[in-house]
Amino acid sequence: MSPVPLSQRKAWRALEEEYRSVQGCHLREFFSMDPARAGRLSCEGAGLYLDYSKHRVTDRTLTLLRALATESGLLDAREAMFRGDRINRTEDRAVLHTALRAPRGAQVFVDGRDVVPEVHETLDRLSAFAEQVRTGAWKGFTGKPVRNVVNIGIGGSDLGPVMAFEALRPYVMRDLVIRFVSNVDGTDFAEATRDLDPAETLFVVSSKTFTTQETMTNALSARTWCLVGLGSDAAVARHFVAVSTNAAKVEAFGIDPRNMFGFWDWVGGRYSMDSAIGLSTMIAIGPKAFREMLAGFHAMDEHFRTAPLEANLPVTMALLGLWYASFFKAQTVAVLPYDQYLKRFPAYLQQLTMESNGKSVSSDGRPVDYATGPVYFGEPGTNGQHSFYQLIHQGTALVPCDFIAFARSQNPLGRHHDMLLANVLAQAEALAFGRTAEEVRGEGVPEALVPHRTFPGNRPSSLILAERLDPATLGKLVALYEHIVFTQGVIWDINSFDQWGVELGKALASRILPELESGEEPPLGHDSSTNALIRRIRGMRGK
Ligand code: F6P
Repeated sequence: MSPVPLSQRKAWRALEEEYRSVQGCHLREFFSMDPARAGRLSCEGAGLYLDYSKHRVTDRTLTLLRALATESGLLDAREAMFRGDRINRTEDRAVLHTALRAPRGAQVFVDGRDVVPEVHETLDRLSAFAEQVRTGAWKGFTGKPVRNVVNIGIGGSDLGPVMAFEALRPYVMRDLVIRFVSNVDGTDFAEATRDLDPAETLFVVSSKTFTTQETMTNALSARTWCLVGLGSDAAVARHFVAVSTNAAKVEAFGIDPRNMFGFWDWVGGRYSMDSAIGLSTMIAIGPKAFREMLAGFHAMDEHFRTAPLEANLPVTMALLGLWYASFFKAQTVAVLPYDQYLKRFPAYLQQLTMESNGKSVSSDGRPVDYATGPVYFGEPGTNGQHSFYQLIHQGTALVPCDFIAFARSQNPLGRHHDMLLANVLAQAEALAFGRTAEEVRGEGVPEALVPHRTFPGNRPSSLILAERLDPATLGKLVALYEHIVFTQGVIWDINSFDQWGVELGKALASRILPELESGEEPPLGHDSSTNALIRRIRGMRGK
């Protein structure tokens, strides 16, 4: 970390100046003055192509942004992360999700111990177990093979597995039923299990801590469901496995430690889909495809670690994101995958980006005087076009967009894929260049409608292009965003790896729960709004 506070660094000051000169310029001018712009403002890494020419930057902006990264100590910070330093200072932990995809034989040390052999031992155990389930060799309590797998977890123990399952459906063994239960709302569990036979159902209880209220509540309900269906406590051993770092809690829950797959405190929840937390993914797509996904992650790790800043995809996207968030004060980013299989990718990214960089104090605990992590949202194209794109085209907010597209479809069907690609290119073009009032008039539009039909343009976007969405490509995409988050966190000087902001709500909920459940009128010491709501709910429920 640089000892100079971010907003006093030389490059930051220069960027404030740069912002004043660039913010009035239009992408139309940038392109008309510079026919080589697209060729220059694009790069390729680990097989992903990034076009970032439709951003409101000059060559000078990019140079200054890279200088800011260097001044902020990005290069040292990157080495410190890969090396296993305890960079998550508020939790005193290393941050080593990159070790989860290090190839066999690589070396990564935590407290003097090489962790790569343990990573591969776990992968081997996961693979053997996944194969047993896939082949039907893993039998339930009654001797029937398991055909349904239900992952119970929340946050990082759910969003990654769900996203990967949806993204890699073409690789999923279709005769297995794979479901996910996360919400403490009983509806989630009830709907996920209503048509399943307990004799053929395996629950994968995924929780780093094995204390998360939602997951433990769902796991207990699953155990009851299983016992009611199968009539014996002994069934738990054949129908429950756990993925956790907390062996004692797993055992206390009643799951045989031999049915537990571990990971380590240096894997953050939202960075864990490629750890044992990916067990449901591995069962679904098979160990070989899972390892291809890990190889994709690793390829992007290597690109991030070794490519010069000007040719580095995660660094480039991180700097552009920071440019809009901190200088243009853009409060959102739209993630727009033009692939139906990526329908859960924006939800996955919401935790990755917002739980990581939704912080307002710097690493030394002082309030920051600049804007940090924006709100991420998105939907797969073309659905979003018929919903919220209106605001992105003509609203008052500046919404930088990340378009993601694939040259080939997993489901070639007539002209569908050409139409999909035509749409993603058209959207990026329309956002950047818009349509002027003169152009609208030139089309014979009545004068009263001209302002309504004018598109201001100058709305920035990146386009990430890959050949097809396969396991390796998914790994590359996820690692790309992990490293974007890291890079931004380093420059903003915030800890991207803790999540204290989720604690207060958890603590208050455990205080309110007995107040809702109590048979006697409980003394309530909340604010008048919360007290009144508790009384009203109790009243509605006849208490
Ligand atoms: O919401 C907070 C959080 O700690 C996330 O960071 C994490 O992914 C999620 O809860 C689930 O935690 P666990 O895997 O320990 O159940």
